[in-house]
Amino acid sequence: MTQYLFVLGRNAELSRAELSNVCEEVLFDPKLHLLLGEHLKWENLRDIPKPKEQLFLDRLGGTIRMGEVVGEFLGKEKLLEAVCTRAMQSQEDKPKLAVSAWGVGKGFLSDFLKQVQAQFAAAKRDVRFENVGGKNMTSGSIFERKLLKRGQEFVIWQRENSFLLAETKANQNLRNYVLRDRAKPFRDPKMGMLPPKLAQILINLADPKPGESVIDPFCGSGTVCSEAAIAGFPSIGSDLNPDFLRGAKQNFQFLAEKFRFETESGKFFVRDATEFPWKGVEGVIATEGWLGENFEGMPTPAQITGNEKATLLLWSKFFENLRGANIRRIALCLPRWERPEGAKSVAKKIVAKAENSGYTPLALFQGQHTFVYARDEQFVTREICVLEKRAL
Ligand SMILES: C[S@@+](CC[C@H](N)C(=O)[O-])C[C@H]1O[C@@H](n2cnc3c(N)ncnc32)[C@H](O)[C@@H]1O
Repeated sequence: MTQYLFVLGRNAELSRAELSNVCEEVLFDPKLHLLLGEHLKWENLRDIPKPKEQLFLDRLGGTIRMGEVVGEFLGKEKLLEAVCTRAMQSQEDKPKLAVSAWGVGKGFLSDFLKQVQAQFAAAKRDVRFENVGGKNMTSGSIFERKLLKRGQEFVIWQRENSFLLAETKANQNLRNYVLRDRAKPFRDPKMGMLPPKLAQILINLADPKPGESVIDPFCGSGTVCSEAAIAGFPSIGSDLNPDFLRGAKQNFQFLAEKFRFETESGKFFVRDATEFPWKGVEGVIATEGWLGENFEGMPTPAQITGNEKATLLLWSKFFENLRGANIRRIALCLPRWERPEGAKSVAKKIVAKAENSGYTPLALFQGQHTFVYARDEQFVTREICVLEKRAL
């Protein structure tokens, strides 16, 4: 059984929840941001000619690189032998080589790299070490230096006396994320645009089956629809604002050319989400709903109360209208207002409205139903929850 080691992004718990839909977890370390998984759900919905590991990683918003496990070794000598044997099999004249290590003591990596170097010298083999100083490689430097094309990276995870060794097979494609974010023709930072990686996480949490539509009734600039199309799902996006809708179509068209998906796979229309015509629509919802006012400074308690009321009213109407619809799962991003005395969350009340309409909240991890996704100095942060339609 092949196992894979996943290096997770900043929000390790959320990345873990995302991965739980596409593989079985064997080990997880929330501090090191590492997860060991097996039984991966391989999918290539658009028949893209790429290695399966890269396709797997490209679908994930919360994982930055993944490696195939070579083995688990007791003691440093065996580990050194395993790395050198594999590295020396390279067909390149002067292969690039890097080793990153987690859970190890101070100085471990620089010593280890010196030992690898000595073995290469003894075998009179040329090699170019990418991280001689003993610092872990970042995904950015692996990408910039094309390390996976012209060489190898090994990843070590020490747990007590044993060393898990993996060879990196896929790394985040930074250029693609720039295209999906800063390079898009329509952007309106005031509307609180969803980062593409978070849109990917929402889609994976909504867990569409092949051919199922991903629906975003608050689509704004269309990030969820574009990400659904890149992953190979049909999508439906609607929004109250016709200008945003035009922008969403423009972005979708731009990304369809860059990522070669069919523009027909996305349908867009202007509509109040509380009046969405659900009849005949099937699929899952992945959405970042209205986040309330865009505050330039810390909102006052009165402003928060006003926004909370408006948000609750919107979602009550939304879930009222959703009754009887054929929507299997919903991944929602809700606003949360930050204050020094504590944050104000509306998730519980909104989840209660969803429950009245036949949806049950799913535990994201360790029995927790919501997850806070925040960046520094944000006054309105996001809270994520996933709901599933109760069987009748
Ligand atoms: C936070 S933005 C969503 C941004 C979007 N995820 C993106 O990537 O650009 C919320 C969106 O909800 C829309 N909106 C607010 N109230 C709405 C309603 N009642 N029905 C439909 N859309 C609404 C706004 O026009 C805005 O585009």
